[in-house]
Amino acid sequence: MDCLIYYTSALIISFSLFYAYAKYKLSYWNRRGVKSPPTHLFFGNFKDCIMLKKSPGDKIREIYNSADPDDPYIGFYIFHKPLLILRDHDLIKQIMIKDFDNFPNRRFGSGSQMDPIGLDSILSMPQPRWKYVRNKLTPVLTGQKLKNMIPLMIENGKSMLNFIENLPTNEDGWSEYEVKDISSRYITDVLASLTFGININSFDDNETAFCKTGVTVFRGFMRGIIFIIQFFLPDWDFLVVPFIKKPANYFRNIFWDSMNTRERLGFKRGDMIDSMLALKNGKQNPIYKFEGDNLVAQPSSLYLAGFETTAIAIAYVLHDLGHHPEHQDTIYNEIQTQLSGKELTMDLINGLSFLDSVVIESLRLHPPLPITDRITTRDYELNSGLIIEKNVPVYVSINGTNQDPKYFSNPQDFIPSRTEMKEKKFYESLAFGIGPRSCIAQRFALLIIKVAIIIIISNYTIFYKTNKEYDNKVIHVFTYTPDLYVKFKKRN
Ligand code: HEM
Repeated sequence: MDCLIYYTSALIISFSLFYAYAKYKLSYWNRRGVKSPPTHLFFGNFKDCIMLKKSPGDKIREIYNSADPDDPYIGFYIFHKPLLILRDHDLIKQIMIKDFDNFPNRRFGSGSQMDPIGLDSILSMPQPRWKYVRNKLTPVLTGQKLKNMIPLMIENGKSMLNFIENLPTNEDGWSEYEVKDISSRYITDVLASLTFGININSFDDNETAFCKTGVTVFRGFMRGIIFIIQFFLPDWDFLVVPFIKKPANYFRNIFWDSMNTRERLGFKRGDMIDSMLALKNGKQNPIYKFEGDNLVAQPSSLYLAGFETTAIAIAYVLHDLGHHPEHQDTIYNEIQTQLSGKELTMDLINGLSFLDSVVIESLRLHPPLPITDRITTRDYELNSGLIIEKNVPVYVSINGTNQDPKYFSNPQDFIPSRTEMKEKKFYESLAFGIGPRSCIAQRFALLIIKVAIIIIISNYTIFYKTNKEYDNKVIHVFTYTPDLYVKFKKRN
């Protein structure tokens, strides 16, 4: 009897202490006069994500939308950790651009020494190493190197066209296929060539191993959990290491095969392997040595950052065009008048202004990466007087702000010629992040997407086909694309 009283008392005291502790922790924003949605005592605001009922991108947008229209920010909690979502464009610019020195790092990423590839990825590395590595990698994706990649994109685009041409057609000449599968194969081939220096044709069913590895890194239930940990619970990162070893080894082997062959035979292709070889054999800076897994980490991270994002982007542009035959006609006419009989160059592609508007508008509506974050290196005071304390992460809900009626009228509609085009620069750069740490490959990605669309629309009329069944609950940090079926009909 005494024992029972003892245990019951201990339980009541423990629960009361936990309750008081949790309530105190979860009043962090309230104590600072910042609104935050109602919380769960244990999970904070992330219960739906931890229970795998909602994707983090959707949850953070939901929190963004729960604020009053003019609130510049709203607080929330993952378990008991306070985080802040920025809602005001000027504030976003202030933190991501003007005061970048305070906010140079991401929260995302591996902290585990057991995962050297993830640890030393440009995606997650902190200042000052990040800046050094970013400067080394930028030339691979800009200038003449970018121009030189156009023939490769066209070549891969031809394999894509060939694949579509061989799809079975009905008696009216229509074929149908799921477009994210097509875009994933196309982007795999472009990225495999750029990052690992290998030529593959993922449209050939005997050569899909590279593409399948990319898919296993990004899709499926387990991957959803891994991404949630890497993005939102990075302190628990050691938990994911066993699950990422296999793809990491796969990329490591391919990388060293390529590097060793290139070094032995001494030829150049203008890709990342050339750059990595030059960095490996060049003078090393103690800030970051290009050796061992440090070398593998960079092409792997470009591949990882570029694969799913670009595959989603192309699939959604096709999906949006499938809904809007009138826009296809405009793009087709633009291609006919400006490209007919000419060799495809970067200037000509960039001159297709309507195509540009279509791509940008599709990225606004379906940003492939719906969130990004920064973490301050020291306490930072906002004009409102709120102090963002060191290590309190700030988030930008890219899908939230891109679909906010305060910034875009009829935000859910696909309107390439928006009157807000004067704002174009801003929302364009939000799909790719913003400031010095925005997407390193924005121009490259836009080029890949446009080449794919030019190739398809020059040859096919496309039409949206009602989605087959899909599971809305699939968890993904990235914008989750359901299976997007599109019908193709060859143009006369
Ligand atoms: C439509 C396609 C793409 C979209 C929408 C996209 C979007 C983004 C976004 C939102 C960020 C975070 C930016 C920030 O925090 O401000 C990012 C970062 C990054 N992206 Fe992309 N991306 C795309 C394609 C690519 C491609 C093709 C590559 C590589 C070949 C790539 C490589 C990277 C890298 C390395 C970073 C990290 C940059 C850094 O921390 O310095 N992305 N991207």
